[in-house]
Amino acid sequence: MAYIKPCRLQGWEMQGQCLLVIFCLFAKMVVLLILPLICFLLSCGALLRWNEVRYRKKGLPPGTMGWPLFGETTEFLKQGPSFMKNQRVRYGSLFKSHILGCPTMVCMDAELNRFILMNEGKGFLPGYPQSMLDILGRSNIASVHGELHKTMRGAMLGLVSPLMIRDQLLPKIDEFMRSYIDNWGGRVIDIQEKTKEMALLSALKQIASIETGPVTETLKSEIFKLVLGTLSLPINIPGTNYHQGFKFPLPQARKKLVGMLRCLIEERRASECSHSDMLDSLLRMDGSSKVKLDDEQIIDLIIALVYSGYETVSTTSMMAVKYLHDHPRVLEGLRKEHFEIRKGKLREDAIDWNDYKSMKLTRAVILETLRMATVVNGVLRKTTQDAKLKGFTIPKGWRIYVYTREINYDPDVYQEPLTFNPWRWLDRNLESHQHFMLFGGGGRMCPGKELGTAEITTFLHYFVTRYRWEEVGGDEIVRFPRVQAPNGLHIRVWDD
Ligand code: HEM
Repeated sequence: MAYIKPCRLQGWEMQGQCLLVIFCLFAKMVVLLILPLICFLLSCGALLRWNEVRYRKKGLPPGTMGWPLFGETTEFLKQGPSFMKNQRVRYGSLFKSHILGCPTMVCMDAELNRFILMNEGKGFLPGYPQSMLDILGRSNIASVHGELHKTMRGAMLGLVSPLMIRDQLLPKIDEFMRSYIDNWGGRVIDIQEKTKEMALLSALKQIASIETGPVTETLKSEIFKLVLGTLSLPINIPGTNYHQGFKFPLPQARKKLVGMLRCLIEERRASECSHSDMLDSLLRMDGSSKVKLDDEQIIDLIIALVYSGYETVSTTSMMAVKYLHDHPRVLEGLRKEHFEIRKGKLREDAIDWNDYKSMKLTRAVILETLRMATVVNGVLRKTTQDAKLKGFTIPKGWRIYVYTREINYDPDVYQEPLTFNPWRWLDRNLESHQHFMLFGGGGRMCPGKELGTAEITTFLHYFVTRYRWEEVGGDEIVRFPRVQAPNGLHIRVWDD
């Protein structure tokens, strides 16, 4: 037994030494890691507080401003609509924040949103980021105001009036859609990719009678760069998905596109032929017409036409296909409507204005899709002078986010708002409801509303009368900040 004691002693000593080593390590860790962490957290707290104090001017609405420079953009993009809802619960439907690089007043009050949209003249101008407007052009309709806006809007409305749609555009759209969706039967297609290409090519045909070919391919590639790039611009912030994907040299894309459009205009002027398209109409405005645009304005108008219709028309078409797939009863109703119209027509017969106007359920499906998917979350304005809203002061130069998304789910306007029910649009005249803002409102209400609807309608007409389809499955759809399927939306299509 004599040999046991020293051994035990050795054990205690070893344990003591181990404890000492652990203690030393712990102390080192405190000094090297935890103390800096505490210092970091304290300085973060101080920074956050400093940023709040900076914006604690008298009269500003309540809300939080987040980090200097970045504000609350990361929370806004990551949490999306729930960020907005949480802030509304805490601060009310008018609150301040700092998102997408600017101090912003978020307005979720339907009444006030309407007021802002109706009162551009009272100091609420479009508030889209300058970098985006630079790419879309100095005379871009979304950036100009006053007299120039009136001129550009007048020209735009002339191009897409119901008369123009009836006589000139619908026949072109019909011809395009019929051939575009040819040969989809027996294939798996990515309907997101297809509807994006469709929106772009259809617009090019209406604008300048450009048919698929090498010119279209080059134009398509430059326009895709421009559109995708500018859509990402306001959210090109480190830490967001968009930052990584943002690598388009936008000014070069614009330069190339402008060059191509300039050539097109020169060719047209030199040509004797008439094309009955938008470019012809724009060039005819050169003469005695009340609206007279110079070449730069014509180019910016064409870019605006393509840009504004691209994302909206393609996303709505894709989501309509999705909702119809998920709601067989609606699909059957829709097919009935379209087969009724095809009765008495040959396969190659086009649909005309009267057919289009009679497609009531189709229109309702499009509106319900826009509402449920919320293709447009809201629009941006900025203040040109200090503005008073609901007793608060919004300083000059602040951005106003007219956030219309929540109206789409308001049970006072839409009963059972989470149900996809197109018939609601037939039963009540919801399109003239004062809170109907799917296409904006006031002096900037979408001029392409009818044209966009006609395009989606024609696409749906040929799609549902020619094909049946099912989703391949496994594709995800992201709803915020843009509605998109990150890896595409794949459907298996077969002939009906
Ligand atoms: C489903 C399709 C569409 C939807 C949901 C939609 C939605 C909107 C919204 C919400 C606005 C208001 C923007 C603001 O107030 O700042 C707007 C403006 C505009 N839209 Fe559309 N749009 C669609 C299709 C189109 C099409 C096909 C065109 C092409 C002609 C177009 C051209 C424009 C233009 C040029 C503006 C700016 C008007 C101005 O500032 O005066 N849109 N659109």
